[in-house]
Amino acid sequence: MTTVVVVGSGIAGLTAALHAEAAGCRVTLVTKAALTEANTRYAQGGIAGALSPADRTADHVRDTLVAGAGLADPGAVAVLVEEGPDRIRELIAAGVDFDRDESGTLRGGLEGAHSFPRILHAGGDATGAEIERVLVARVRASRVSVREHAFVAELVRETGRVAGVELHGGERIEADAVILATGGAGELFAHSTNPIVATGDGIALAARAGAAVRDLEFVQFHPTVLAVGEAFLVSEAVRGEGAVLRDETGRRFALEAHPDGELGPRDVVTRAIAAAMARQGGRPVLLDATGLHSSDPDRRAAFLAARFPTIDAAVRARGLDWAREPIPVTPAAHYLMGGVVTDLDGRTDVPGLYAVGEVARTGVHGANRLASNSLLEGAVFGARAGAAAATDARRPWPVPTGAPASPVVEPATAGILHPPFSRRALQDLMWADAGVSRDGTGLTRAARTLAAWRAEAPAPVTVRAHEDANLLQLAQLVVAAATARTGSVGSHLRTDDLAALAAPTARTDLEGAA
Ligand code: SIN
Repeated sequence: MTTVVVVGSGIAGLTAALHAEAAGCRVTLVTKAALTEANTRYAQGGIAGALSPADRTADHVRDTLVAGAGLADPGAVAVLVEEGPDRIRELIAAGVDFDRDESGTLRGGLEGAHSFPRILHAGGDATGAEIERVLVARVRASRVSVREHAFVAELVRETGRVAGVELHGGERIEADAVILATGGAGELFAHSTNPIVATGDGIALAARAGAAVRDLEFVQFHPTVLAVGEAFLVSEAVRGEGAVLRDETGRRFALEAHPDGELGPRDVVTRAIAAAMARQGGRPVLLDATGLHSSDPDRRAAFLAARFPTIDAAVRARGLDWAREPIPVTPAAHYLMGGVVTDLDGRTDVPGLYAVGEVARTGVHGANRLASNSLLEGAVFGARAGAAAATDARRPWPVPTGAPASPVVEPATAGILHPPFSRRALQDLMWADAGVSRDGTGLTRAARTLAAWRAEAPAPVTVRAHEDANLLQLAQLVVAAATARTGSVGSHLRTDDLAALAAPTARTDLEGAA
């Protein structure tokens, strides 16, 4: 019987585990925290899918390619969008209770850069929590063996292939296939929407095993995170319902950046906010929901509480009344478009090793992910990887098409003045020098400091130290990729790319051509 280890318990990992088990594998799911603790659980806006008879698959494909700024792989996007509706129907059949109107029809919301309101949501703004609830229950009821609070410190390598995982503490779990579904790396940055489990472990593990990684310069910064108290995502769906962005003088500025204003592509809106904040001394901009639904603030408050219960609670917990006043928001790191290079079934270029979900670079996102395509990616490619792992053990490993990562050229570190390493110092460095905008000077400074920290780092002996080592390794890969790409595209803005700065309308031209 084929044995499979899945690492990670978000939508991608849970789906991969269930599909591998359904295909007859013996599956062990390993996760470093509780089974429910994954980025998926915090996803608000929803899952995109062309399910409505009034929508068209071709339009979802086009929106995804345009958001990706011309760098998404059309073949991968076609798989994502064409297979997405079946995976969503599978979630519904499993018990995911997406919101419906009075007639029982699924309610579709609108988000940035979508040409149709195709974002399905559950519990208003608790879509990820609902999906996680259902998939966790299914895994618990299945024959999948679950290992919670188990940290994968290294992949087991044997004769040119991956043959299992080694846990912190030394235990080995041998397997014919290892599927990495470890999610993203929001912990790389000082401001992030991600839970603290998002430490880029899978990319670091895969890179150490020799797998190709790519597109790591493409980090998506979500435009609207509450700027009061702990960072808290305010879903793009709020702008989809009509909320607008204002600077502190009350001026609506997003329309100057993109014809679709607040619902332009996420990278464009984020940069418009960053520019507005720079003009007002770094202070947050305002998200104004006071024009939504009704002119009566009490009715508006009732609408906001019903449509966005999770956000409403977080806003009110911070002493704000968003039915009556605009709320302060700022961008924060949200999603890593790049990752471990895979084919369309999650195979990496190391036999026995697969990657799915945010840890993977399938080509579906290009330089900027379209809103609410990430849960969809986890469902579609999780299912594919689970099925592939079941059959691959009996077949020769196909050669993948991925290009290798930008190599990390270790700069000389002698005499470099740098603060002592801490996770906070790493996050501050990455925010300042590899954040929403980058330039050669900042990237060189970051590369030197990272190299010095890496040279000084002791061998990790705790889980936290393993995570820090993974973050440090990944930070070097991100900075190397951002250094190598000297031109601006999608989420990657090089302020020293004078050609791009001289042609600010280039994005609009691209959209016209798509
Ligand atoms: C949001 O609800 O704004 C986030 C959705 C996403 O990142 O796709």
